[in-house]
Amino acid sequence: MTERPAPSSANAEADRVESEVAVRLAPSPEFLGRVAEVREELVARVNAAARARSSPLVRALVAGSAARATFLADRLDIDLFLLFPPELPKERLREEGLALGRAVLENPETRYAEHPYLRGEFGGFRVDAVPGFAVSDPSRPLSPVDRTPFHQEYLAARESPSIVTQVRLAKQFLRTLGVYGSEAKTEGFSGYLTELLVLRFGSLRGLLDAARSWRLPVRLVEAGKEPPRLPSDVALILADPVDPHRNVASALSRRNLALVVLSAGAYLARPSARWFEPHPPAPLERTEALRRIADRSSHVAVVGIPRPDLVDDTLYPQVRKAERAIAEEVGRSGFELLGSSSVAGPDRVFVLVEVAHGHRSPVRPQDGPPPGLDRVGHFLDKWTAPQAPVLQGPYVRSDGQLAVETRRSERDLESVIRGLLPRLALGKDLTPAEPVAIEVHALAGAPDSPALGEALAELLVKRLPWLASA
Ligand code: UTP
Ligand code: MN
Repeated sequence: MTERPAPSSANAEADRVESEVAVRLAPSPEFLGRVAEVREELVARVNAAARARSSPLVRALVAGSAARATFLADRLDIDLFLLFPPELPKERLREEGLALGRAVLENPETRYAEHPYLRGEFGGFRVDAVPGFAVSDPSRPLSPVDRTPFHQEYLAARESPSIVTQVRLAKQFLRTLGVYGSEAKTEGFSGYLTELLVLRFGSLRGLLDAARSWRLPVRLVEAGKEPPRLPSDVALILADPVDPHRNVASALSRRNLALVVLSAGAYLARPSARWFEPHPPAPLERTEALRRIADRSSHVAVVGIPRPDLVDDTLYPQVRKAERAIAEEVGRSGFELLGSSSVAGPDRVFVLVEVAHGHRSPVRPQDGPPPGLDRVGHFLDKWTAPQAPVLQGPYVRSDGQLAVETRRSERDLESVIRGLLPRLALGKDLTPAEPVAIEVHALAGAPDSPALGEALAELLVKRLPWLASA
């Protein structure tokens, strides 16, 4: 047992650490001035471009963290929202929004998540220009981004300089844990969720003090006022103050919230600046992975699926679905499943499955119908036929159930997965036209790649990130 510092000295240490980190994270007055300038210039240029092309634009505004100085300077993006009349047809919204963005931004690139937007540069900053509808009621949005101006108004009216400092600290703490960002790949805390939590608990410390004893799922809503339609695996419920029907934490996974709950206790017991110094997880080299697998006497199969032309945000939900489908089916097919992981690389999506033994037993116990039913005749005919692949039986088990043990023809994991693939729901864009385009290899025979290394680390280097590496 290591000696834990007394709570009061831990508190004093946390004060010291947090104020030191807060200074490091604070943008300089010059930088903030530059951001403010670019914000104004950007809106003025959009308005001019709108006049020039007689655009139906209602209003342009910068929202998000660049509007409130709650950004982390090394990952600043300026979120520019272009609001159009609610009556405008969706295709026109898209066209008009993208046209205005293109008129103002350098190196514009169209992107699609669930909503089209344009990413480009302006005044040396990265800008996302997002078209939306100027709705009057944020609980009746017409597109997924229409609540944004209301978020901006809500937060700007409540945030003080001390809250802004605490938001940056909280974002950096979450980022170091690898749980900051609501993209589908991360399934973490969005900027807006982080700001609401800091507002609610007053500071990062206030948040962690509460979070250390949270039990999942966590409800931060009044009883009886939950947003409807919560998924069964919801981690955290916090109603959007501008739209109580929406859970602000809908993107957050249970794993990531649990990590924060555990880290809260660990940080408060032993605060240090290391909790604010991100070190991205290292990929695991294939040779090192093979060494670990040998040590575990286990076996890993790699399923490689050609990557469809989709952005990560659209692709990742399908990748996770494919991973679940493959792993569950492997577990039901006579293998002892140890774990699985997945990653979307530039050319291929990889799903990895680890099992205790690469070959399953040839013996497959199968239940027959309950004795007394007519179907018993068919069952007995089938499994007593001369060519039937029966290893033992048919017989009656001690519980009175008719059973038979048949011989499995395919025993190695890779062949079994190849056989399973055609009937698995892999996600609609991951089912290639040609099933042969999916490659299934044992890890020893799989082509090496950085993406594979990422999935290998997720599979074989699981450990709470704040513990020293094993
Ligand atoms: P961001 O994800 O950029 O968040 O979304 P942020 O608050 O600026 O935080 P960081 O510092 O960049 O990480 C910008 C705004 O867009 C709205 C939210 O209101 C958010 O504050 N938004 C974003 C939506 O309404 N819907 C979405 O799907 C995404
Ligand atoms: Mn942002």
